Amino acid sequence: MSSMDYLARILKPGTALALAALFASLLNAQNTAPHFERNGDRHALIVDGKPFLLLGAQINNSSSWEGTLPQIWPALADLHANTVEAPVYWERLEPAKGQFEFGDVDRLILGAREHNLHLVLLWFGTWKNGQNHYVPEWVKSDVKQYPREISARGKLLDVMSPSSSNNLAADKQAFAMLLRHLKSFDGTQHTVIMIQVENESGAIGTIRDHSPDADKQFAAGIPAELAQSLHLPGKSSWTSAFGADADERFAAYQTAHYIGQVAGAGKAEYALPMYCNVWITYPVHALENRDRASAGQEYPSGGPQQANINIWKVAAPAIDLLGPDFYSDDFSLFKEVVHDYARPDNPLFIPETALSKSFGRDLYYALGAGAIGFSPFGVDYTGWTLKAHQLPNFLAQDFAILAPMEDVLAQLNFDGKLQTAVETPGEPRKIIHFGDIDAVVSFGFPQHDGEQPPGTHDADGRALVAETGPMEFVVTGVDASISFRVTKTFGDAHNEQLEILTANQGQYKQGRWQTERIWNGDQTDRGLNFHQDQPAVVRIRLHTIPLHVLGSASNRPGLQP
Ligand code: DGJ
Repeated sequence: MSSMDYLARILKPGTALALAALFASLLNAQNTAPHFERNGDRHALIVDGKPFLLLGAQINNSSSWEGTLPQIWPALADLHANTVEAPVYWERLEPAKGQFEFGDVDRLILGAREHNLHLVLLWFGTWKNGQNHYVPEWVKSDVKQYPREISARGKLLDVMSPSSSNNLAADKQAFAMLLRHLKSFDGTQHTVIMIQVENESGAIGTIRDHSPDADKQFAAGIPAELAQSLHLPGKSSWTSAFGADADERFAAYQTAHYIGQVAGAGKAEYALPMYCNVWITYPVHALENRDRASAGQEYPSGGPQQANINIWKVAAPAIDLLGPDFYSDDFSLFKEVVHDYARPDNPLFIPETALSKSFGRDLYYALGAGAIGFSPFGVDYTGWTLKAHQLPNFLAQDFAILAPMEDVLAQLNFDGKLQTAVETPGEPRKIIHFGDIDAVVSFGFPQHDGEQPPGTHDADGRALVAETGPMEFVVTGVDASISFRVTKTFGDAHNEQLEILTANQGQYKQGRWQTERIWNGDQTDRGLNFHQDQPAVVRIRLHTIPLHVLGSASNRPGLQP
């Protein structure tokens, strides 16, 4: 007898039906593969029926090996990551044409399960950092069958030509086999929650491919779907539409179209969320008269860089998101990049960032912009980026605070209830607005009465405030104090005063709030203080007193409006 039949037998008919429906919907949520959902302009990565906040960590390029895996797990634990991003090497997956080996992939999945982590697999296929270094030997050594890009000067590059149908067919086949295997090995457990298709695609060494096939395609002009979607009526040639950028935009279309088809072949087997990471275009600071970085030299030409996002969105619809890798301490640039990639048609995800002091500041800023996840690169104890058991605390502290409440934060962010404030140099105070309530965030300590807050040495103070109910907020931060007030216009108009009812320090356990102690007195009178190295989360309940109910304020001393 099935569990449903058994329930129907022992319960009253109405109750049994309701329970069966609940059971079925829970089961359905569990069985649905990870996917993206959109709520207006906001996005969520749904895993097992709930929004998931991906607190990730990417291991080094050569760390997905049996011998190195033991050195990755402790680093991930020290960071408090909930997801590991790990490469799958095409050269290992298909060592001979048509012969597939899934041992590396299975080992990663089983290891992730054992360490209570989710897994994002990175498909190192046709592209890895704008080159072809992970294609199998049988591809690398047969340039006739598997053609390369050719530069304008006729040089054969270590980049596969995206104009070649053989290259595409070979990558599609391998990627589809990988996804078929994942469906059978992990289709019910959902350890693997997302796939990165290729790695920092585009070409290093040329702006566009000049192979005979590519030249033919360039001469054939802009594909109709692209011209129509980008509203380029009457522009049939690449040059008439894009002028001096024609070669680069052509490269973007070729690359995106190829990768979109690889992703599509994978999704036909198992429709996991799929994204492409981006070697972005950084400004050139080296020489003042260089006004822009050059495609194919300073970044791989044709990848999903800022200026190519629109082309990629049209040419690769099977790719759910384009995620910028960010390797700079320039916070203004980070804000620009977030602005470029956080779009109604593109969930924000930072798949790679440096192991630097900017990590916490950028993480909070991205969360405030609705990010579904964030991940530093090079997190393992192989010695390449970190010495054994020496993960600096400035990297661990933020995930340590956020990880226990990852589900709650993911849902609040999807609902548009989560905001953050991040310090910028010279601005030690920021205000976050929640309707009639302001959260006033002051950075740096000590904070003396009657003085502006000092700010922090590295301008990296940060705070997170999320509205969990009417006049109720979850608050945390680093090097920041947070106090609440009624907004000027509202408070003055209504003569309202805001008070704290309770400020409870604690944490979420399996989605339920647990109070550890109540903050009051010095711990609340000058805002909720969050110091470096003293991680805390506070759930605060406020109320307002409408002073006019006590009589006209102007009649009573001390209560002048
Ligand atoms: C970005 C790439 O995507 C990674 O695989 C790795 O090569 C890092 N750069 C190294 O900084």
